[in-house]
Amino acid sequence: MTVAPSSAAASTAPTPASPYDRADWASAFRNVSLELSDEAVVAACGTVPAELSGTLYRNGPGRLERDGHWVHHPFDGDGMITALRFDAGGVHLSNRFVRTEGWQAEEQAGRFLYRGVFGTPKPGGPLANAFDLRLKNIANTHVVRLGDQLLALWEASSPHALDPVSLETRGLSLLDGVLKPGEAFSAHPRFEPGHHGDRRMVTFGVKAGPRSTIRLMEFAASGPDAGRLIADSQHSFGGFAFLHDFAITPNWAVFLQNAIDFNPLPYLLGRKGAAQCLKSRPGARGQFWLIPRQDGAFAGQEPRILEAPEGFVFHHLNAWEDGDAVVVDSIFYADFPSIGPDQDFREVDFDRIPEGLLERSRLDLASGSVTTTRLSERTCEFAMVPPARVGLESRYAWMAVAERERGNDPLQALMKLDLASGEQRVWSAAPRGFVSEPVMVPRPGATAEDDGWVLCLVWNGARCASDLVILEAGTMAEQAVLELPLAIPHGLHGSWVGAPLQSDSAA
Ligand code: CO
Repeated sequence: MTVAPSSAAASTAPTPASPYDRADWASAFRNVSLELSDEAVVAACGTVPAELSGTLYRNGPGRLERDGHWVHHPFDGDGMITALRFDAGGVHLSNRFVRTEGWQAEEQAGRFLYRGVFGTPKPGGPLANAFDLRLKNIANTHVVRLGDQLLALWEASSPHALDPVSLETRGLSLLDGVLKPGEAFSAHPRFEPGHHGDRRMVTFGVKAGPRSTIRLMEFAASGPDAGRLIADSQHSFGGFAFLHDFAITPNWAVFLQNAIDFNPLPYLLGRKGAAQCLKSRPGARGQFWLIPRQDGAFAGQEPRILEAPEGFVFHHLNAWEDGDAVVVDSIFYADFPSIGPDQDFREVDFDRIPEGLLERSRLDLASGSVTTTRLSERTCEFAMVPPARVGLESRYAWMAVAERERGNDPLQALMKLDLASGEQRVWSAAPRGFVSEPVMVPRPGATAEDDGWVLCLVWNGARCASDLVILEAGTMAEQAVLELPLAIPHGLHGSWVGAPLQSDSAA
């Protein structure tokens, strides 16, 4: 692993060859074979900042193969939670599979019993799969703290509640009756820093069809009321909605409806997973859907609909208001990336799939016009602003990027981007390291936006195991590397929860 914080301007030099070995990248696709409880881990180099006090939670697929059958796409793997607890310079590691109904049944059977949304079939061919429309809630996408619960999220169904310390699964949660059984609940809540008083978790659920309905929910996120539903509204829009993420400002919830169609026939017939039946409409544009927040200046008004730029979006970085305009930063792909029924995800050709690029859309609500500018030419994913700037203008963002300045590759580096000047600072794990989503943690009492640390799980291809890397958020200088006694496959999302933290048993 290299320590190479650097300032890099956009380069016109010829693009160098990819700096990684595919076998190193693919070696992260494996089953997690053990569950650890509060295992002490020490820094292999550097020192863990003593001020870092709290827990980093990560979620992602931890089971990718059963009885010789591999998932068709890693997104079909069962959710496994990793927790790294920081206390006065000490670090303790725990990990647990979420005990979903499907995981328990398949553990017992020793084989896959459910189809996966991203194309994993049950053994036995199309006949065994046709018309089996049961959803396996795999709880693998995100993990957040709400009140005394840890919630493992999967957007097509209910969250699973876990104990925040032991990670034991308490079970499916309907959030004190807020949700109906099986109701969709996004895996991308936004924690806003207090736009209308105390901190809130703003999130949504989508009922997709020829018309799609978005349920927008706001929960208290701090104090004794944490977890209480504060705001709840529903709005319907024309067209099929594929909404993985959204963004918020003090007055708006911002959605980008991708120009995509859903043809369920191959799914019904057992030939494809449901997500493989999504197909982008060539040349068509999506729409921005802006729903007024209940405590904002436009509460009670109709949603605003504006034309979106071409391209496909999974994730947004942030949104904010500038006079009559709403500014939304999103990661755009030229097209919806999917893995066809005959492709092996471990052999995906990065040069042939679209890369994610960060773009800024300025939505002028007075005129209805939208203008878009590219913020960086570097392939990126998993971007965030400091927690205190969610929904507000932010100077800096942190994200996972490719090692090369242009071209599509696996994510091997972490970048701090100055959104005002375009200056980039990059820390790289290449050639043998592969990064996941970086989490920016502010230093307690910090006044500067970039004062804090960046925490990231890195797949170390040389060790075939995972490292926790701690960087200084301002300079991207490496502060510590912890070699974990655990091999965690390429993961999805996670969050930081500051101390204090108590479990049921400790309360
Ligand atoms: Co996501």
